[in-house]
Amino acid sequence: MTLDVAWVRAQLPGRRLDWFDTLDSTMIEAARDLQPGRVVGAEQQTAGMGRHGRSWHSPRGEGLYVSMVLPAAPLPVTMLALGLAAWEALRDEAETLRDGFDLRWPNDVLIGQRKCAGILANAGRDAVIAGIGINVSQRCFPPDLDTPATSLALEGAAVSREALLLRLIRAVDQAIELPPTVVVQRFAAASSYACGRRVRSGEVEGVTCGLDPAGFLQVREDNGTMHTILAGGVRPA
Ligand code: BTN
Repeated sequence: MTLDVAWVRAQLPGRRLDWFDTLDSTMIEAARDLQPGRVVGAEQQTAGMGRHGRSWHSPRGEGLYVSMVLPAAPLPVTMLALGLAAWEALRDEAETLRDGFDLRWPNDVLIGQRKCAGILANAGRDAVIAGIGINVSQRCFPPDLDTPATSLALEGAAVSREALLLRLIRAVDQAIELPPTVVVQRFAAASSYACGRRVRSGEVEGVTCGLDPAGFLQVREDNGTMHTILAGGVRPA
């Protein structure tokens, strides 16, 4: 069913929420007009973008595919804040799964080892475009995904896309106002990957040792060498 955008707009008076049936990517549409606070969404994307040049599976009506125009801000704290916001919105809206959601640095939302939400942040001089994809009712996914995927429906939660979108927008609005120290602290508390987890990131393999004040992940190799993971992401080793 098509998302009831009028209902969401009515809950967010004055907010610009541009909703499309089909877009190549909400990231591309958002970049056309960087009005602060603007939210762009689509029922389906024909060229949904993931991080590191991957694509994002975006079948019609089965997920939330949204980009938000945010004030310019440093990455990666913004990345962490966005992950935290998606994690919080999911916990509050998919209550039966509440304690099952995990955060994997820098901002994947997982249920167990499966990914249910992904976030892309494009930082420019004037704005950050935050692209958030949440798998709501998909029943199957392409076989060749980097991380196995799941959806809220596959995990047994029936969630209204309208209510989830509203929570997500409000959660992002709040998260980007938090001081960086609070974002880093909350992310570390929410994520099973922040500390004591054996991971691999590119050539580095070791155990996670928390986040530095800028939000970068620290990993200790078995020989004691410490690494700061600046980009990419981590996978269980
Ligand atoms: C990732 O985990 O690789 C990031 C996925 C980001 C997907 C969202 S869906 C809405 C927005 N538009 C896109 O083309 N990508 C992001």
